[in-house]
Amino acid sequence: MPPRVSTRVLKVGKDPLGQFRKAPGTERLSTWDVSTDGSASVKVLQEAASYLQSKDLPVGFPTETVYGLGADATRSASVRGIYTAKGRPSDNPLIVHVSDLDMLRGLLATQEATNGAPSGQKDPIPDIYKPLISRFWPGPLTMLMPVPSSPRLAPEVTAGLACFGARMPSSPLALSLIKLTGAPLAAPSANASTRPSATTANDVLEDMNGRIEIILDGGSCQVGVESTVVDGLCDPPVVLRPGGVSLEEIRSCPGWEKVEKGYKDRSEVGKEAPRAPGMKYKHYSPRASVILFEPTYAAARMGLSTSDISNMRLIQKHGGYLAIGIIRTRRWRPAAGLPCGPFQSRGSSYAADTEVEVHVQEAELADAAPNKAVGKLFDINIGPDAKSAAQGLFSALRELDRRRVDFIFVEGIPDDVDVAAAVMNRLRKAASEIRS
Ligand code: TXA
Ligand code: MG
Repeated sequence: MPPRVSTRVLKVGKDPLGQFRKAPGTERLSTWDVSTDGSASVKVLQEAASYLQSKDLPVGFPTETVYGLGADATRSASVRGIYTAKGRPSDNPLIVHVSDLDMLRGLLATQEATNGAPSGQKDPIPDIYKPLISRFWPGPLTMLMPVPSSPRLAPEVTAGLACFGARMPSSPLALSLIKLTGAPLAAPSANASTRPSATTANDVLEDMNGRIEIILDGGSCQVGVESTVVDGLCDPPVVLRPGGVSLEEIRSCPGWEKVEKGYKDRSEVGKEAPRAPGMKYKHYSPRASVILFEPTYAAARMGLSTSDISNMRLIQKHGGYLAIGIIRTRRWRPAAGLPCGPFQSRGSSYAADTEVEVHVQEAELADAAPNKAVGKLFDINIGPDAKSAAQGLFSALRELDRRRVDFIFVEGIPDDVDVAAAVMNRLRKAASEIRS
């Protein structure tokens, strides 16, 4: 175990932090400029940036997808700090976050070229990615890029692979932190390994308290699930992990019409190794057992029944007091059909003081007859559409863990549109039982 440190959560306000340079003839994403107005928020970011330049522990910071644990991707010692803080297997490579295309080109160019090669050389960004960059960056899309000879990136970032994942997040806070650090940030999601990803600073604190010194609090994440990871260096190109940008959106870009789904949701075990190494691990799991209802099954059953309670009581050893969580999306009613007392009049909300508000309602769980309380029920509605489900998913799983529930029943959504594929992918990985 690494020695414990004291963890500070630093609030970053909503003042403007920077923007992409808008000079005539300048490419849209070439240069991110941090505001020079000396605002309190920029000062906090400066403090975090100088910490990243000199220390070897990562900093927790928000992106639009989930919170990341960032470290200078060009220094081995600082990248190793990520694997230690997170308890992450070191064969799982890290995504490299850049502030702008200038920084990305610096990473793709060979060192000889950066040290004064003649200008007018070919753009090092592979052409296949240009349509994706212009449509989805800055944003929740990670693209595999070739590692050049004599790379600037620390070898620990790629875990020995010939490619690295590059992402330009859309969060101005993330872009400004990277720019002020003056180096790309390698950053996995800021959860302890195997736990659900963190979408608030408080979630990061829960998993990283005593393991890192700085967490930047920029409110809750707007997308709520991680970036889509694509590989366009092979033919046909593949999506290695579903995420904030959907397969259909990618397919509509020139050169990406034949993009294939390169991940398998439930059948990875025992089959060929997945190409995004992170996809093979137990993942996104709360402490409670998750029982996922695939959408057709969820629609047919319209919820749970008293026999579900009896089963849970059997599993949960001899009639112990049960605590059950329900995560609803489209059709399930509050309590999903389970017999329970009235909901407490005021549901409490969590992820509060931020834009994403989710409510949890609480009731006594009753046995069929003679209607006696056998436990507690916590009910969360993460909303009917894929976007709201993505925003609330990890947050709901974590909140139910805080309520110490034994089982979480989740109403799945059809995974055909939008970020729904990412939501169902994460749920299928988190689930210990899938009903379909
Ligand atoms: O939205 C996100 O992508 C977040 C935020 C913080 O940016 N980051 C994130 O990182 O989700 P992480 O480490 O939890 O997941 C990275 C995924 C893993 O599945 C990993 O195997 C894959 O990307 N990956 C990274 N580099 C790769 C590479 N060179 N080749 C193949 N897969 C790679
Ligand atoms: Mg992760």
